[in-house]
Amino acid sequence: MKIIIVTTCLIILPCLIKCEDKSFLKIPNNLKIGAATSAYQIEGGWNTSDKGQSNWDDFTHSKSHLILDGSNGDIACDSFNKYKEDVQLLKNVGFNHYRLSINWARILPTGFANKISKEGIQYYKNVIDELHSQGIEPFVTLFHWDIPNVIAKMGGWTNELIVDYFTDYARVVFRELGPKVKVWITLNEPNVDCSEAYDKETHAPGLNMPGIGSYMCGHNMLKAHARVYRMYQEEFKKTQNGILGISISSSYWFSKNKNEPESGDIAFQNGCGWFLNPIFSKDGDYPPIMRKRIDENSKLEGHPKSRLPVFSPEWIEYIKGTFDYFGVNHYSSRYTENVPYNNITGWYDDTGIIESVNQSWPRGASSWLYVVPEGIGELLRKIKNDYNNPPIYILENGYSNYGNETNINDINRIDYLYSYMKEMLVAINRDGCNVKAYTVWSVLDNFEWSKGYTERFGIYHVDFNHENRTRTPRLSVAWLTEVIRSKQLISFDEFKAKFM
Ligand code: NOJ
Repeated sequence: MKIIIVTTCLIILPCLIKCEDKSFLKIPNNLKIGAATSAYQIEGGWNTSDKGQSNWDDFTHSKSHLILDGSNGDIACDSFNKYKEDVQLLKNVGFNHYRLSINWARILPTGFANKISKEGIQYYKNVIDELHSQGIEPFVTLFHWDIPNVIAKMGGWTNELIVDYFTDYARVVFRELGPKVKVWITLNEPNVDCSEAYDKETHAPGLNMPGIGSYMCGHNMLKAHARVYRMYQEEFKKTQNGILGISISSSYWFSKNKNEPESGDIAFQNGCGWFLNPIFSKDGDYPPIMRKRIDENSKLEGHPKSRLPVFSPEWIEYIKGTFDYFGVNHYSSRYTENVPYNNITGWYDDTGIIESVNQSWPRGASSWLYVVPEGIGELLRKIKNDYNNPPIYILENGYSNYGNETNINDINRIDYLYSYMKEMLVAINRDGCNVKAYTVWSVLDNFEWSKGYTERFGIYHVDFNHENRTRTPRLSVAWLTEVIRSKQLISFDEFKAKFM
């Protein structure tokens, strides 16, 4: 009897777990799967017709030593000329949507709304029309790290006047392109750009004001996001009926020590809550722990005022609730530990947290991209629990190869996407997370900011040494095509057994 029970368990149990797993791996009918890029990273055409200069044109030209391979986005993937081919590449995979961004200086050559470029508007109309003609939904980002250089020279996002300028620009975009766009992203990864461009010198304009610049930038970005959200509700929502959100670079942080269970959340509050709390929380404003630590540190450093600016009660109310969905860009995770204050101004000391990784985690070509699939599941559940189960749009997730290898057989990318999508599907199908869209970064290899072309995120390889910028599908294209077609997530081994 005993033997029969044990044998039955041995046979049935693994099957039950496996069968159960399989049902989690179904892609729900209402989950949109798409891919993303951004204007400066792919377009090129940096000085066509009346386009104005952007902060990135200026930065890469005048400070090319800050770009790892000294390159720039002057031509990039030449998508300015090759957009029809790119839309066809998206169509071939069967993507539901394409996330692209608008280059502000292409639309407003002076930076301001006194002059609107007909050619600039026409370019984006063409792209959007082409997408619709192939049945692909455009998701459009207003700010993906490029601003007109004239505004960058005025301090960029540290100058509060940008709140008005950004709203004027957004109004032009909504008026011209809004009838054909239903999903908008106001700002891409403000938490990353504010730190890299204003605390440091790694992003344009590179103001290098540690512990000060990022908070000034964040303050104005939050105001600008809210102004644009509310302007859309007042002026366009009735006729255009789109949805608006902000995409936050959202890692997951695991507390390393059992006796400090709060350290992971403190890191989250400083890294993401900085933008999430003012918009998504019940009370609005910066996370209390962030306020407290920066206020205390500022005092210890002898500042008469906190380095973290203060919102008036009116602004707190105005910013709160300005979302239709929760935009997530997710790639990796970290361990966290508490560390005592030390007297160096900067982000790391303001958090009071030190981050580390597990050396056994595999890594992509990007030094920060450790593969930790369980992090995305934890993140989605945290968003569900802490922010009242909002609709979630995953707007970026992807894996990098080294630029000096073509990596046509990008099995590492397939493994990465499989393991992350699997955790996402469990979070949806088992835990009820309200994920509406999943977006792969990126369709094409492209200009990876300060890393130039040394890191490649594309499911299509791009030959940057050839004037045609030839696109070649990597293996992940075939794998994704099958996953989208069958609405069933399969591992590389299953794919290989069936199709190779
Ligand atoms: C974040 C950014 O939004 C995107 O521009 C960048 O290329 C990817 N993640 C990869 O680093």
